[in-house]
Amino acid sequence: ETDHFTYDPGFTSTGSCESGLTFIDGDKGILLHRGYRIEDLAANCSFLEVAHLLLNGELPNKEQKAKFDHDVTYHTMVHEQLSNFYRGFRRDAHPMAVLCGVVGALSAFYHDSTDINDPHARMVASFRLIAKMPTLAAMAYKYSIGQPFNYPKNDLTYAENFLHMMFSVPAEEYKMDPVLAKAMDRLFILHADHEQNASTSTVRLAGSSGANPFACIAAGIASLWGPAHGGANEAVLTMLNQIGHKDNINEFIKKAKDKDDPFRLMGFGHRVYKNYDPRAKVMQESCHEVLEVLGVEDPLLELAMELEKIALSDEYFVDRKLFPNVDFYSGIVLKAMGFPTSMFTVLFAVARTTGWVAQWKESIEDPQAKIGRPRQLYTGPTERPFVPLDKR
Ligand code: SDX
Repeated sequence: ETDHFTYDPGFTSTGSCESGLTFIDGDKGILLHRGYRIEDLAANCSFLEVAHLLLNGELPNKEQKAKFDHDVTYHTMVHEQLSNFYRGFRRDAHPMAVLCGVVGALSAFYHDSTDINDPHARMVASFRLIAKMPTLAAMAYKYSIGQPFNYPKNDLTYAENFLHMMFSVPAEEYKMDPVLAKAMDRLFILHADHEQNASTSTVRLAGSSGANPFACIAAGIASLWGPAHGGANEAVLTMLNQIGHKDNINEFIKKAKDKDDPFRLMGFGHRVYKNYDPRAKVMQESCHEVLEVLGVEDPLLELAMELEKIALSDEYFVDRKLFPNVDFYSGIVLKAMGFPTSMFTVLFAVARTTGWVAQWKESIEDPQAKIGRPRQLYTGPTERPFVPLDKR
């Protein structure tokens, strides 16, 4: 505690805003969006119903759902000139690097929805971001593998459309499996929002200066990319591949516990959950379902389950209440569906855009909102006399 402010590195005990979107009880492992359990939403809703809930406060009735689906779907295409922007990137660029660039560039294409003081412009920007993210993400993938971009198809659902844009080629349409489309949709729901995590706080902080929504979401994407946050889903798969075999698990557990070793078990631990992440449970079930439908036996799933079992019976992880988080099983689902590892965090970004946008809108509409401006503990030299260049 200083005279004027509290020192709180990592903001472990700082509430930065009021929000009516998402509630987490970390000790009980409960996650609610506007009062509804994540498990219920994942089992019974479409992703766009959850997006409606987050943005507008209530689950839509049939008419509201049809209107909301239409309002989002209307914006799925991106400005044709934006495709030139992709062509400036190296083909081997990480798709998250590409996404940071193209989403930031949206404000250069959609001038008519950048006025944050106009409620209609805020709504249009929100629809545009939610609608265009799958298109932009799929374009990043297509560019990386040298295939032509696919235009969206608005008679498909949000998840189906994404699968189509990712995997259809002019010579052959992607064969849509309803179970896989549902799994994709569920994965989007599970990642939609999670209160004041690093990327959402970044979006709010960027927005607090009055920056336009496209720029704010680009800031969120950059923050999400790190392996301690959304980049963990990619890191989990890399880690499982490195472990390679059940016999090597103990060696990696030992490394994760060693304070002199930077290695940590990816997909384990959470700032807020000190009990099982409820999303990880749904994701694990989804994982079994997807592998069964595809008839895939992925030894990485066996390995992940064994790793979880061993870690959860180890004193170190038990004492620190380190459980699998949402990212632990998602990579195995995505891999089975044909997504390359480098796209995993991109998928997280597609889903989280809804939460970012809803939180950005809430913050702009908050009468108490102020520019975010943390203080610091200064650790540099005290005041000293200036030394001219020839005396240094
Ligand atoms: C997401 O915040 C959100 O809501 C994020 C998210 C969302 O939906 O937005 O849920 C998505 O980001 C999930 C988290 C994905 N990240 C990972 O899976 C990476 C591995 N996990 C960690 O690096 C870590 O657990 C964090 C970043 C998730 C949480 O970090 P904290 O809250 O700062 O906790 P900490 O690092 O201070 O850890 C407390 C103790 C430490 O040990 P001690 O110093 O007390 O002895 O637990 C240890 C840590 O070393 N620890 C781990 C560990 N995670 C924490 N030890 C081994 N392996 C781990 N994974």
